[in-house]
Amino acid sequence: MTKEALIVFTPSGRRGHFPIGTPVLTAARSLGVDIDSVCGGRGICGRCKVQPGDGEFAKHKITSSPEHLSDVTKVEDRYAEKKGIKAGLRLSCQAQIEGDLVVDVPPESQVHKQVVRKRADVRDIEIDPPIRTYFIEVEEPDMHNPKGDWERIQEALEAQWDIRDVSCDLRTLQGLQVALRKGNWQVTVALSEHDRKIISIWPGLKEKVYGVAVDLGSTTVAAHLCDLSTGEVTVSSGIMNPQIRFGEDLMSRVSYVMMNPGGDKDMTAAVQDSMNELFGSIAEEAGIERSDILSATFVGNPVMHHLFLGIDPTELGGAPFALTLNSGLDLYARDVNLDIATDGRVYILPCIAGHVGADTAGVILSEGPHMLDEISLLCDVGTNAEIVLGNKERLLACSSPTGPAFEGAQISSGQRAAPGAIERLRIDPETLQPRFRVIGSEKWSDEDGFGDDIKSTGVTGICGSGIIEAVAEMFLAGIILTDGTIDGSLAAKSERIIPNGKTFSYLIHDGVEGEPSVTVTQNDVRAIQLAKAALYAGVKLLMEKMEIEQVDRIQLAGAFGSHIDVKYAMVLGLIPDCNLERVKSAGNAAGTGARMALLNKKARAEIEGVIQRVEKIETAVEPKFQEHFINAMGLPNTVESFPNLETVVKLPEKRVAEPAEGGEEGGRRRRRRRG
Ligand code: FES
Repeated sequence: MTKEALIVFTPSGRRGHFPIGTPVLTAARSLGVDIDSVCGGRGICGRCKVQPGDGEFAKHKITSSPEHLSDVTKVEDRYAEKKGIKAGLRLSCQAQIEGDLVVDVPPESQVHKQVVRKRADVRDIEIDPPIRTYFIEVEEPDMHNPKGDWERIQEALEAQWDIRDVSCDLRTLQGLQVALRKGNWQVTVALSEHDRKIISIWPGLKEKVYGVAVDLGSTTVAAHLCDLSTGEVTVSSGIMNPQIRFGEDLMSRVSYVMMNPGGDKDMTAAVQDSMNELFGSIAEEAGIERSDILSATFVGNPVMHHLFLGIDPTELGGAPFALTLNSGLDLYARDVNLDIATDGRVYILPCIAGHVGADTAGVILSEGPHMLDEISLLCDVGTNAEIVLGNKERLLACSSPTGPAFEGAQISSGQRAAPGAIERLRIDPETLQPRFRVIGSEKWSDEDGFGDDIKSTGVTGICGSGIIEAVAEMFLAGIILTDGTIDGSLAAKSERIIPNGKTFSYLIHDGVEGEPSVTVTQNDVRAIQLAKAALYAGVKLLMEKMEIEQVDRIQLAGAFGSHIDVKYAMVLGLIPDCNLERVKSAGNAAGTGARMALLNKKARAEIEGVIQRVEKIETAVEPKFQEHFINAMGLPNTVESFPNLETVVKLPEKRVAEPAEGGEEGGRRRRRRRG
């Protein structure tokens, strides 16, 4: 009778008896234990490392010892010499079972590794990419065997990996003979699992392959190069969207197309060219070849989505805002003129509606409201706010035209977030004196060393998060009334309140030596009120449709959401009342969604399914939108209450300016009423 030994794998806990001499990898496979391998057990890829346990394992009733494995083989020695191997680890394809064992499979050796995300309230990403690589040894041709090289590759895949029915396209075939001969009949192939096509071939063992997740924003483009086997982000890079020269916002880009026949082609070329440049620079920074990039995923709003795909976005410029398609798209990279691996692939996440794009699909995928009982509110704030509300029962989405004020545009001292921009601000309610911080320095303006810190940048303006804090602090300090009017009567008390025609401004920073002064004007406050009212009205509309008074959690996505202090966002009434502990920045959630779709094939199916059941609400045709909008012009809101917020911030009494003769605004006279 053959002698057997008991083997238990951790962390899975799977166990079984195996004949002495069975390779650990074989035992693992037969128990369904997840151990990685690219080389198919040849001892060259090093993906299958495991750690034998040493000692008594009472829980498993086993005494395990590294000695219960066969001696280190020559293959392992060769691997260790070339690549190094941590003490105590063995290659499971080489080590054979010689006695009872507990074998730990470390995370880096698991096929379905998890990319652990920093935030506790989101799920981790399981690595299960739709494209995988396989190392094969291919039979050499000879005069007696007339089979083609491709047919022998098919045979090798079947014999060595049990992979059948694969095909490939001409471009991959064109490089096949060279790769086989260069690799001395050993090659690595990349298989796209869903259509079972071989999309690239390299001579020898290809150890690392990559994908790029791209968030194609209206203003900026962010791309992350990820190792497809570990999920690790190797390089992140961003550029300005080159389409800015065709129009700052999306609708002006659609108008450009309408006014200039062929303009859509120019814009498509601009964005596709810039993607190629970006991919090139990322590859260079990572020290890899473009051809090492096998796939890319993209999220973007509907207009960017259409333009990137070379589809005329004119229909998105007016009601009923019809999309060319909602579904996700699986393409060859060459279809969008992207220069990556031979038959590299591109996946575009699905769009939800004419104003709610693949970027929102990315946010949903990343934040997972469709998996929770509690009601989540997701707001991705840019020039358009895209809003999703709901839980696993029901999801609603809409977009609301917030305009560019939150990005610091159309604000008199506004600027993009860059060194020198004011990003934080506090106002002393007694003296009305401000103190602030600028990007590039950790110090507040009244701290020692601030002047030295900002010597090279100076104070150049105020960015989106800065203007939110400025307006909110002005409100809390009583400078701004409930209706948004800057209280001109305070000019008598503080030289910071300065007349500006018929209205008043608040001076934050008096420019010296040619520096600009930084002020918040009445028009600035109005621009912020309009933007925040649009956002809130969209949210309120969805809450009404959902028949709820309260949301359980709020996730603010996008660059804006990452930088604003959520307390101030609530003081201004951008978002509804909620336990502040449950209001979080989701960072670049759209980009994270693209990364999930890159690294996990099930994530693609998941988001395609979820968007089918998202109910789209068109704010433009909802009569209640206007009413909510007008109410939301007040600070924080004319009709809504904020009980959660009031537990941490004392909101001022409700005060509004009386219209002066001739409708003059300025709040020189005011009446009070209790709120
Ligand atoms: Fe590649 Fe063991 S499977 S080294």
